[in-house]
Amino acid sequence: MSQENFIPYGKQNISDGDIEAVVAALKSDFLTCGPLVDEFENKFAEYVGGKHAIVVCNATAALDITMRAAGIGASDRVITSPNTFLSSANCAAFVGATPDFCDIDPATYNMSADALEQMWTDDIKAVVAVSFAGQSCDMPRIHKIANSRGAVVIEDASHGTGGGFELNGKAYKQGGHPWADMTVFSFHPVKTLTTGEGGIVITNSDEFAKKLRQLRTHGMTRDTEDFQGLGSDTPALAEKGPWYYEMTTLGHNFRITDIQCALGISQLARLGDFTQRRRDIVAMYNAAFAGLDFLETPKTLRPEDANHVSWHLYSVQIDFESLGRSRTEIMAELRESNVGTQVLYIPVYLQPFYRNTYGYEPGKCPNSEAYYAKALSLPLYPSMTDNDVQRVITAVKNLN
Ligand SMILES: Cc1ncc(COP(=O)(O)O)c(C=O)c1O
Repeated sequence: MSQENFIPYGKQNISDGDIEAVVAALKSDFLTCGPLVDEFENKFAEYVGGKHAIVVCNATAALDITMRAAGIGASDRVITSPNTFLSSANCAAFVGATPDFCDIDPATYNMSADALEQMWTDDIKAVVAVSFAGQSCDMPRIHKIANSRGAVVIEDASHGTGGGFELNGKAYKQGGHPWADMTVFSFHPVKTLTTGEGGIVITNSDEFAKKLRQLRTHGMTRDTEDFQGLGSDTPALAEKGPWYYEMTTLGHNFRITDIQCALGISQLARLGDFTQRRRDIVAMYNAAFAGLDFLETPKTLRPEDANHVSWHLYSVQIDFESLGRSRTEIMAELRESNVGTQVLYIPVYLQPFYRNTYGYEPGKCPNSEAYYAKALSLPLYPSMTDNDVQRVITAVKNLN
């Protein structure tokens, strides 16, 4: 098995230009808290069409501060999809709320708006709508269900950087549509755009943006408007010079460096090419696999969305039973053909923490469990050549 011919399931794409940008940041006066952080935020917000961008050290931190900014806490319930990475649910647990799970739509593998409506209870105060594989949920419907009942909507678009959808002939980007109060993206290397580690929150709300910035850095503020009047009882604090700050809420250090933002800015200039190549590869796969009876290809919510989704994963459903081999055996066979695969995701509520803490049991979200039983992610990343794509197609077809 030759390692150099191995096609992994995902891979970052770093150009010489990206490296030069990082080196320039290293030679600059600021390694952190400098101008590249603002520049990346401004450019990213402009790219997606959102008003404010708050960039942080990873998307887990980004989700955490969305919960805190929205005032979610004990006695609140937060609904997300079971078909996601742990962070989409953990963010609720971090603030003492109860994470709960809404089953998925078997066609898109995303949270089902019908199921959300049916399971609604008055203690639900936030919905974390995960864009699995890069595809948005039915955001207009989810937003209507949640907002009309006083809950905030957070789109976890960690998979979807640069993508969007089409509605009534109009294109919308994740982070740039009106059906989420806050949108989170991840810049982990396996994602569409990377800063090494990184995450961002996009919001159109001035109030949320202010809170998110404060929560990113220890709960501190230097904004005189937010000062709470220290000094009247402590004369030594009366002088509020340029050094002065107040901590008015509890926050972590979730900051990101200028070094990472330099990479982000450089990658952002390449994002259009990345997303287009991902869409082209998905179209090649879908066409090649259309007639296979042991494999189901991913579907978009609306046919026209296929021109807008930024696919992070190509996750198919494979009927392992009809192939007469287990998933482990199939993965090993594909590995022998130098094709890497991955399985995403184990329904989050089946994790021991969730079962032990909240009493969740198998059978809670049957569609997610059925999806998981057949899930396999095939290689997808922009530097795959057409020849690489054909090699994956041949290896998959040979499984029969
Ligand atoms: C859907 C989803 N949300 C959140 C995260 C957390 O991202 P990060 O690794 O940047 O913290 C991930 C990471 O894989 C993810 O897939």
